[in-house]
Amino acid sequence: MHYLVANFKSHKTTREVLEWLSEVAPKVAQRSDIIQVIVCPQFTSLASAKQFLLDHNLASALAIGSQDISAFGEGKFTGEVNAKALAEYAKYSIIGHSERRRLFTENSDTVAKKIDQALAFNITPIVCFAEDSVEDVHLLKGENGLVAFEPPAAIGTGNPASTATVAGIVQKVHSETKGNTPILYGGSVDGDTVHNFLAIEHLQGFLVATASLDPQAFLTIYNGLRESHNR
Ligand code: PGA
Repeated sequence: MHYLVANFKSHKTTREVLEWLSEVAPKVAQRSDIIQVIVCPQFTSLASAKQFLLDHNLASALAIGSQDISAFGEGKFTGEVNAKALAEYAKYSIIGHSERRRLFTENSDTVAKKIDQALAFNITPIVCFAEDSVEDVHLLKGENGLVAFEPPAAIGTGNPASTATVAGIVQKVHSETKGNTPILYGGSVDGDTVHNFLAIEHLQGFLVATASLDPQAFLTIYNGLRESHNR
């Protein structure tokens, strides 16, 4: 299985998310057995996104993920969105994105707590890491989860990491996790740059933000990944 994650970050109203879904979901439905698309809109759009997919018989076309999850359970935590509530809508959750680490002081402890919360409610964590936090892949402790190598210098800059850098990290993490954890790459992936990475052994997909916002740009990446399956 390969994975293609659309991380909308703090973009798109619910109406815009539904427009995106109406363009993308029918086109990725057919091969959801080989490429799992995961769309991660803002919290405010999760319920409508799920309902839209149900209403249009597209619930199996792609999965919904959240961009974050509370490190706490239910309780007095104003502003937090906990795993129990998210589990009604999200099958996946991005955890430990570099923007959360840099702007919201998250660290490996926070990431560990969030992973535990997600797993307790059957939400699959997508744990983001960089060179300096590569040990965080072990916080999954062999449980069901994905990891995404996202070097901050490559995020949103138009300058993806080199093929050799990504291949090196992927091989290291693959062997340390005994091949049990799908490894993704994120950072300036678009319809062109995706081709730098398609031949990397054990790389199982991409986490895309900027180029995910436009449905056609996202589908170009999707098609690149799909064609590489046919080779
Ligand atoms: P980008 O961001 O695709 O805009 O580089 C990736 C990410 O932050 O997940």
